[in-house]
Amino acid sequence: MLAFASTLLACLPAVLAFSPSFDYGTQKVRGVSLGGWLVIEPWITPSLFDNTGNTNIVDEWTFGQLQDRTVAEKTLKAHWDSWITEADFAAIAAAGLNHVRLPIGYWAWEVGPGEPYIQGQLPYLRNAVTWARTHGLKLILDLHGVPGSQNGFDNSGHRLSFPGWPTNQTNIDRTNNILRTIANEFGPQYETVGAIEPMNEPAGYFGQVVLNPVRQYYLDSYTNIRASSQNTLEMIHDAFQSLSSWNGWERPPDFQGVALDTHIYQILSNAGVAQTDSEHIATACGQGSSLQGFNNNQLWTIVGEWTPAMTDCAKYFNGRGIGTRYDGTHAGSPRVGSCAGLTGNGTSFSASYKAFLRQSWEAQVMSFEKASGWIMWTWRTEQADEWSYMAGLKYGWIPSDPTSRQYPHICG
Ligand SMILES: *[C@@H]1O[C@H](CO)[C@@H](O)[C@H](O)[C@H]1NC(C)=O
Ligand SMILES: *[C@@H]1O[C@H](CO)[C@@H](O)[C@H](O)[C@H]1NC(C)=O
Repeated sequence: MLAFASTLLACLPAVLAFSPSFDYGTQKVRGVSLGGWLVIEPWITPSLFDNTGNTNIVDEWTFGQLQDRTVAEKTLKAHWDSWITEADFAAIAAAGLNHVRLPIGYWAWEVGPGEPYIQGQLPYLRNAVTWARTHGLKLILDLHGVPGSQNGFDNSGHRLSFPGWPTNQTNIDRTNNILRTIANEFGPQYETVGAIEPMNEPAGYFGQVVLNPVRQYYLDSYTNIRASSQNTLEMIHDAFQSLSSWNGWERPPDFQGVALDTHIYQILSNAGVAQTDSEHIATACGQGSSLQGFNNNQLWTIVGEWTPAMTDCAKYFNGRGIGTRYDGTHAGSPRVGSCAGLTGNGTSFSASYKAFLRQSWEAQVMSFEKASGWIMWTWRTEQADEWSYMAGLKYGWIPSDPTSRQYPHICG
């Protein structure tokens, strides 16, 4: 009997095969993030912040902390009910996309003592999964904010000069527990929740003090996800490190079903916003080959955030109360030009600006499809149409079929 059992075991592969519901690595991911919904961001919905009448409310933490609690709760609930509905999932599917990426903060699951976050997001996440299933979309569950914050960005929930997650083991332990809870519920739903992203944009540029706990957390997340599902993709953000710095990381045969998420924005530096239109296009075209190389030789690579917008002109883009590089109102940024006509309502965009946005969109999509695909940031904005997939479809700089091209030779 013992001999029989060991023969049987010897026949089993060391690691079970990964059989996801989307053929990652073969099919192209084409998707959009549902930004500014279950995690609010000043630049996506400036009215939520302006309406508080308090300029110290700059993120979701201060939104809960610095105003009347009932008002804050009522405002958030109304926002969750209206910003994204099932109709958006229908429109996203009709636009030929196959994925939505849904950012959500840890506080949907747990609020610690002294944390002013308001809860209530979880039923909306569950609705989103149902709507994704109904409309044939895969959903990437993206933990966009962790206890203490992984980057100090307002979009992690809490704007800070140095993130409080990496150096605080309590916060790391809390995050592992929350990820287990997430995996327990959503791992078995892998046919719709195709991927779990354990942490968005950890601030790896601070060095090993951040990178060491991040690497350990990615390994622990793999174990935690696999405990609930063999077939959910673990999507890890590159922590703003070069692709090659992840060579050899979480690869087969020891790991199955891991993808690298890299975010590509050309406008987060003075040099970036100073590029001409044709320089921006050339930059986009030039990104394809290294993405392809890493994708084919290391980990499936998805450009999980990017935008056709090539300025930082959107109101509050760099944070509420912080200026804009492009027009020189950001400390330390020389003026490139006026933001007039470059942000706002698409009805006010010139024909040539819309043509540029289309070129920017197509050049990036072509580059990113040399790897495993892309997820544009973001589906909807209040008043920055250059960032909005919905507005791009409406005003024509994003094609209603994402495989159609007006500029098929733009990258030469
Ligand atoms: C670590 O984070 C917890 C909250 O999760 C907090 O209560 C504690 O004060 C933090 N520790 C340090 C040393 O900052
Ligand atoms: C842009 O302007 C048009 C025409 O005035 C209007 O219908 C539309 O709602 C506006 N878009 C946004 C996002 O405010």
